[in-house]
Amino acid sequence: MAKEKSLFVCSECGGTSPKWLGKCPSCGAWNTLIEQVAGSSGPANNRFGTQYAALAGVSELATLSEMEAADVARTPTGLDELDRVLGGGIVSGGVTLIGGDPGIGKSTLLLQAVDALQRAGQNALYVTGEESGAQVALRSRRLGLDHSQVQVLAEIQLEKIIATLDATRPAIAVIDSIQTVYSDQLTSAPGSVAQVRECAAHLTRFAKTSGTAVVLVGHVTKEGALAGPRVLEHMVDTVLYFEGDTHSSFRLVRAIKNRFGAVNEIGVFAMTERGLKGVTNPSAIFLSQHAEPVSGSVVLVTLEGTRPMLVEIQALVDNGGPSPRRLSVGLDRDRLAMLLAVLHRHAGVACMDQDVFVNAVGGVRISEPAADLAVMLAITSSLRGKPLPKGFIAFGEVGLAGEVRPAPRGQERLREAAKLGFSVAVVPKANAPRKGSKEIEGLTIHAVERIEEAMDVVRRLD
Ligand SMILES: Nc1ncnc2c1ncn2[C@@H]1O[C@H](COP(=O)(O)OP(=O)(O)O)[C@@H](O)[C@H]1O
Ligand SMILES: [Mg+2]
Repeated sequence: MAKEKSLFVCSECGGTSPKWLGKCPSCGAWNTLIEQVAGSSGPANNRFGTQYAALAGVSELATLSEMEAADVARTPTGLDELDRVLGGGIVSGGVTLIGGDPGIGKSTLLLQAVDALQRAGQNALYVTGEESGAQVALRSRRLGLDHSQVQVLAEIQLEKIIATLDATRPAIAVIDSIQTVYSDQLTSAPGSVAQVRECAAHLTRFAKTSGTAVVLVGHVTKEGALAGPRVLEHMVDTVLYFEGDTHSSFRLVRAIKNRFGAVNEIGVFAMTERGLKGVTNPSAIFLSQHAEPVSGSVVLVTLEGTRPMLVEIQALVDNGGPSPRRLSVGLDRDRLAMLLAVLHRHAGVACMDQDVFVNAVGGVRISEPAADLAVMLAITSSLRGKPLPKGFIAFGEVGLAGEVRPAPRGQERLREAAKLGFSVAVVPKANAPRKGSKEIEGLTIHAVERIEEAMDVVRRLD
């Protein structure tokens, strides 16, 4: 096949250049030139808009009511926790990107999933670019997937991969990983943004036209740092991220985007010798076991998708140098700075000259503002060196004015905490059971409206 000439197109002005330049020759913007195969659609071809009608003709339109509204057909993968994040299963023609740190378990999970699908009668293809076929076979033996009928293709050239997919038409194809795939039509190096984007676009087009569900493995951290093609997120239907501390055995799979279901549902797995096993009742896995309460530790009841989970928030406040540090793991750092300001202004707790470290136990990431109250109580507890009582939980959002705002589905959170044997709770007033309504057995609830009140309650509990 004759190699098509590539073209570099400026993402700002649409100007073009036959070779890569740091600065766009038309508009002078830096680092905006992106390689494109000549002839493919792009800003360069958009210049003659009026000629489009002559070139392509005008499309027929239909109203929404005339269109057939078929519900998407989902095939459960057989791994319940994965199905939960996907919104019920793999959608035919759907494209899923699954990202996460190296070694976290992406290949393991997908091999388990395609094997389960194959055993359920779906034709599955596993394209491996990172490992040899023999390595994948070795993993399948270790995972106990004996006599697996999953077909494996060790290939990194896009054109060959698509030709094979087209000839075999599997129900599901896994590309492990998209960073290793390259197209002959581009001169950029494999793994570069242009290559990854172009290859993903071709695979997406293939999925849509053939009905094959395509899963792309991406070496992308949540910050988008590693090999960073966040552009992929816009292209695909579903984006899943693997989270968790590689040193602990628990792994979370979170949906960041899902065109076929709810986001922020999470799947919880435990990494075992024989692969990833779903954890069906995960509410207590992120608690570290202290025999006696320790200062700086508060248990937060957070809501992950449809399930309440208890996560221990730890804080350490210690004498800092001239420029004290504020560090957070699993929690937003800007939010931490904000909470410290609210603590100072409204509750008179000053940490200006102190280092403040905050950590959500178990490598879990918490993004909901309902963590605020627990974070603030943990910080105060560490600063004072006073542990909170045994069986203590808290949740609630704290605003800049020092007000404590309700968290969604507070009753459910309280019931889960009571079920796990927690006995004292500090929560927003609107989340506490109303006077006269049924109380939650075993749980003493302190309802607060302001952060000062919460501090008072905690001081009284000492
Ligand atoms: N022989 C083994 N026994 C038990 N666990 C293993 C073994 N080999 C690898 N693992 C586990 O599998 C993980 C690798 O998962 P993998 O699916 O290859 O990650 P990824 O594809 O995300 O890079 C390792 O971090 C380790 O926990
Ligand atoms: Mg892998």
